[in-house]
Amino acid sequence: MERTLRTVDPDVAAIFDRELQRQQQTLIMIPSENYASRAVMAATGSIMTNKYAEGYPSARYYHGCEFVDDVEQLAIARAKTLFGADHANVQPVSGTQANMAVYYGLLEHGDTVLAMALDQGGHLSHGNRFNFSGRYYHFVGYGVDRATEQIDYDQVEALAREHEPKMIVVGASAYPRTLDFARFRAIADKVGAYLVADMAHIAGLVAAGVHPSPVPYADVVTSTTHKTMRGPRGAFILCRQELAKTIDKAVFPGVQAGPLMHVIAAKAVMFHEAMQPEFAAYQQQVLANAQALANTFKVRGFRLVSDGTDNHLMLVDLRPQGLTGREGANLLREANIIANFNTIPFDPQPPTLGSGIRPGSPVLTSRGMLVPEMVQVANWIADVLACPQNLDLRAEVRAKVIDLCAKFPIYDYMAREGEFV
Ligand SMILES: Cc1ncc(COP(=O)(O)O)c(C=O)c1O
Repeated sequence: MERTLRTVDPDVAAIFDRELQRQQQTLIMIPSENYASRAVMAATGSIMTNKYAEGYPSARYYHGCEFVDDVEQLAIARAKTLFGADHANVQPVSGTQANMAVYYGLLEHGDTVLAMALDQGGHLSHGNRFNFSGRYYHFVGYGVDRATEQIDYDQVEALAREHEPKMIVVGASAYPRTLDFARFRAIADKVGAYLVADMAHIAGLVAAGVHPSPVPYADVVTSTTHKTMRGPRGAFILCRQELAKTIDKAVFPGVQAGPLMHVIAAKAVMFHEAMQPEFAAYQQQVLANAQALANTFKVRGFRLVSDGTDNHLMLVDLRPQGLTGREGANLLREANIIANFNTIPFDPQPPTLGSGIRPGSPVLTSRGMLVPEMVQVANWIADVLACPQNLDLRAEVRAKVIDLCAKFPIYDYMAREGEFV
């Protein structure tokens, strides 16, 4: 009998079946998720998983690395071409690990770093006190202006002058507006700080040229690969040539040992896919779809943080509806709409509740959905959130959601052929 996953381990295979059905039958609005292509998944599940390859191409601590060298070199070359960077390191296993390597390489324990505060839209790895970053380095947080809810660049400059950080980090997890990398560069220059851009959320938009690139401005750029890039779970780092050795040494042997060669192979595939014209068209549609979601929310009377979005995500303030973010996300889940709850700037609620939800368009756009579907989905969300007591309404919306999902199947051919397991 053929030794497939299903025959070897039917328990795990059955869990995969249920997860496939969940992904197929729900509308996933989480802006940091996506569907990786079949080619990306083929690489992730490939024979490259079998190889130990500590070190870098042509400088490994193991023999037998000639072909993993080829694939890592391809990934590096493609990353450099795609983003116009001097140097790329494709080994970081996650966005947090990429940031860790950059801090480890460029900072000493206790050095001051200026970064967006988590409660203003930043990321855990940008100095949150429960994260290694907040514990080992002295992070000072900047935020958004109370009135515009957009980054207060004057405050960033004032804080930079006051604290003289060794590094300034620009990048966010919950910020719906365009980042002004040139302004950050000017501020960093005034105080002699490194500028590090974390483009984890927007890397796909940057690759497609629909968001300005940080590469001409930042000394170092970090990114995840599994969000708008539509690659495997992982990360990469770009930097100027002068910092190449420092960054490489910080990744290995600094904070990682054996690289995940199968994931690096999948990153090579992802960079290749991101160079295709379809990828740019996809990212343009991501933006158009985010606009359609945001406009419909506004028409339905919702308040959006900063009154809109320039990118793939938005923050919807649910306080006027009398709901916490968690309550809102729970109601939507009953209607098969998966959104994550989030704090909004100056949130009176703790992060475990949050006052908002953070919907985004990348996943639905990957399914092939366009503006009319976004208008429909935003209206369903508005209907559900307007009537928290109405169980029947949520059941009705759930049925319509499942119907819509059936018209935009994911991995359809794989499911038919049982290829997943
Ligand atoms: C801005 C930013 N940086 C880093 C990360 C961390 O990525 P990971 O979850 O792969 O550690 C994220 C993930 O949400 C992010 O939004």
